[in-house]
Amino acid sequence: QRAILINGEMRIWKGETRTVHSPVCVQAADGTLSHVELGSVPVTGTVEADAALAAAVAAYDHGRGAWPNLSVAERIACVGDFTNQIVARRREIVNLIMWEIGKSLADSQKEFDRTIDYIRATVEELKRLDNSNSRFEIVDGTIAQIRRSPVGIALCMGPYNYPMNETFSTLIPALIMGNVVLFKPPRFGVLLYYPMLEAFRSAFPPGVINIVYGQGHVVVPHIMGSGQVNVLALIGSSEVADQLKKSHPKTNRLRAILGLGAKNAAIIMPDADIELTVRECITGSLSFNGQRCTAIKMILVHQSIAETFLRRFCEEVGKLAIGMPWEPGVMLTPLPEMEMVAYMNECIADAEAKGAKVINPGGGTTVETLFYPAVLFPVREGMKLYREEQFGPIIPVASFEDIETPLDYVITSDHGQQVAIFGSNPDQIASLVDTLVNQVCRVNINCQCQRGPDVFPFVGRKDSAEGTLSVHDALRAFSIRTMVAAKQTEASKKLLDAIVLGNKSNFINTHFIL
Ligand code: G3H
Repeated sequence: QRAILINGEMRIWKGETRTVHSPVCVQAADGTLSHVELGSVPVTGTVEADAALAAAVAAYDHGRGAWPNLSVAERIACVGDFTNQIVARRREIVNLIMWEIGKSLADSQKEFDRTIDYIRATVEELKRLDNSNSRFEIVDGTIAQIRRSPVGIALCMGPYNYPMNETFSTLIPALIMGNVVLFKPPRFGVLLYYPMLEAFRSAFPPGVINIVYGQGHVVVPHIMGSGQVNVLALIGSSEVADQLKKSHPKTNRLRAILGLGAKNAAIIMPDADIELTVRECITGSLSFNGQRCTAIKMILVHQSIAETFLRRFCEEVGKLAIGMPWEPGVMLTPLPEMEMVAYMNECIADAEAKGAKVINPGGGTTVETLFYPAVLFPVREGMKLYREEQFGPIIPVASFEDIETPLDYVITSDHGQQVAIFGSNPDQIASLVDTLVNQVCRVNINCQCQRGPDVFPFVGRKDSAEGTLSVHDALRAFSIRTMVAAKQTEASKKLLDAIVLGNKSNFINTHFIL
C-alpha cells in the first residue's frame, strides 16, 4: 500500500516501505517456518506528518472551515456514506484483521460488526443530543442556546488488539462532532485501512481526515510538539500517553481521551460457583490470547478452593482449540510478533526462578508465534507477573487467606480499570463492591471484565485511563459546550426570531433531525 490520504488526495509514496508480515507462519518443503508476507506500508517521516497536520489545520481553519460549519445533519450524512462504503468491503477488511493480527475469523467479524453498530449508535445518540439542544432557554432574564461545538484538531491512535474498533471508537465521535482528524494506525493492523482509504477520501471534505504513517516515536511527538493538536485520543500505554502530553507546548490547551493499561484481577471467594467462575476466567483471561486491555490478568483465589479451581481451570484450558485464525472454534492463535513470545517466556522464567510453577500440561510451549497458554502458581509480589500487564496468554494465580490480601492488591496496583469478583454471599459481595468501586471503575459480579456493551462507560482510574468513552460520553469528550446568550428583551427576541425563521445560522436554530 503506497497511497497516503492527505488533504483529500491519495498521495503515492515512493519512499521507504515496511513489509507487513502475518503472525501466521507457513512451512516450506524442508520444514522451515516463515511468516506470510501480506504487503507493505509507507514509512513516512516528519515531512509527511507536517503535510498531514497542515491539511488538518487548513481544513479546520480556526473553526471557520467547511467541516466544523456543516450542519449536524450534513455531517451525519457523510458518516453514513462512509459507513455504507466500508460495509460493502467487510469481507476484505475482516480478512486483513485476521491475517495481520492473528485474531480468529469469528472475532475479526465481531470486531467489524461491533464497529458498525458503534457508528450507528453514535449517529442516533448525536441526533438525540442535537435535538435536545435545538431550543432556547430563558434563565434570570437571559435567553440562551447551548450546543456542543468541536474542539479542533484531534489526533486519534488505536491499539493493535482492536485495530478497527478501538480506533473508530474515538475517530468517529471526533469527526461527527466537527473536529478534523489526524489518524495514525497501529503498528500491527495497518493494512486493514487500505480498503477504507477511498471511503475516507470520498465521504469527507478534503483535509478532514488525514492519515499519518511512519514510526510512532518519531512522527507523533513531532506532531504534538507543533502545539496544533487540541485533542489527543490514544488507546495505548500510560508511559506513551504521558510523554506525548508533555511534548505539547501548552498542555492547558490539550484535551486527552486515553484508554491505557490495566491489570484486572479476578477475586474468587470460598463460596463461588466453581464451574461458572472457571468459564468466566477462561474467556476473561484468554479471549484473543489475553490480548485485551480488559482481560483478567491476575487471579486471586481463596485458599480453601484454590486446588479445586486450579484443577478445573487447567482442565478447561486443555480443551481450548489452538490453531490458525480461520479454523472454526479456534480460541488460541499466533501472537503478532516474536518479541511477544520472548516477553512471555521472560515472565515465566522470572516467576519460576522465584518459586512459581507452570501447572498446566504443555503450558508455555511455543512454535514460532504460537504460544500455548501457561497457568502459573503461586505468583507473588516480586515476580514480574504479579504487577506487570502481561498482555498475552499467561494466567498468574495466587491464593489468599484473608480478604484484605486481594483488596490490598487492587488498592496498591498502578492500574484501576476493572475487577471481577466471584461469590454468592450478599454481605461479602456488597462489602467488596463498596470498597472496590473506589479503586476501579467497573466491578463485575460473577462475570469476566469487559468493555461492552459500548453504551456503558469505559473508563479507569490511576494509570488506566483519562476521560470516559461510551457512545454517549465520546460525543461529549470531542466537543465543548458553547452558548449564545442575549438579554431577554423585545429587540433580542426579534433578532433571534429573524435568524431562526430565516434559517440563517447553523448554531442558532431549532432544527429537528429525524
Ligand atoms: O483492549 C481493550 C478493549 O477495549 C476491550 O474490549 O472488553 O470488549 O474485549 P472488550
